[in-house]
Amino acid sequence: MAGKFVTFEGPDGAGKTTVLNKLLDNLQLKLGSKLVTSREPGGNHIAESIRNVILDRENTKMDSRTEALLYAASRRQNIVQTVKPALSENKLVICDRFLDSSIAYQGGGRKIGEQLVYDMNQFATEGFLPDLTIYFDIPVEVGLKRIAKNRNANDIDRLDVETVDFHKRVHKAYQDIVHDNPGRVKVVDATKPIADVYSDVLSIMKKHVNEFM
Ligand SMILES: Nc1ncnc2c1ncn2[C@@H]1O[C@H](COP(=O)(O)OP(=O)(O)OP(=O)(O)O)[C@@H](O)[C@H]1O
Ligand SMILES: [Mg+2]
Repeated sequence: MAGKFVTFEGPDGAGKTTVLNKLLDNLQLKLGSKLVTSREPGGNHIAESIRNVILDRENTKMDSRTEALLYAASRRQNIVQTVKPALSENKLVICDRFLDSSIAYQGGGRKIGEQLVYDMNQFATEGFLPDLTIYFDIPVEVGLKRIAKNRNANDIDRLDVETVDFHKRVHKAYQDIVHDNPGRVKVVDATKPIADVYSDVLSIMKKHVNEFM
């Protein structure tokens, strides 16, 4: 059985982490060490250290391209140290955000340009892409409302204080990614109740990575 790399993508508050945790609870028993999870930025000690720099609320002076490079550096380390070794051992790797997030947030949100961010990331990824990406589709306002409702002030990081316009640009960039990558990216309606979103995610995974489900 070949390893498979699955990523969860979508705007803030779409429910990616919630559904991923639910999925892990259910798959862990069945797959044991065949299941590896990761997140971006982060996924191992070095990448998590880079994450802390990116999300630090004190780093108000961070330049957009510095930020994009840090994400790419964290991604590189995650691929080399965590994702690829697991895939070579025929495991299922599920990652909370990946390259599409950089294209949407740095390319669209920060206005660096999607193509430029994609091109810059080639140095980090060497063209490596997920086998399957599940996109959590949700209007900007609904996602932001969920976060505002559920997150306490101490949990707010540097990226949570962005404007609605920023998030709208992120959303638009994501729509383009979905449109341009119909083979890799599958969409779930993330406005539904958690149980329904979860069952839609399961259906997609049963269809595309059935060997692990
Ligand atoms: N389908 C849903 N319906 C209602 N509330 C939800 C749903 N999914 C998640 N939530 C709630 O919305 C909040 C944000 O969810 P979650 O952290 O999973 O989003 P996320 O996509 O991981 O966001 P981020 O990109 O900011 O990490 C949580 O408090 C969660 O309980
Ligand atoms: Mg999350």
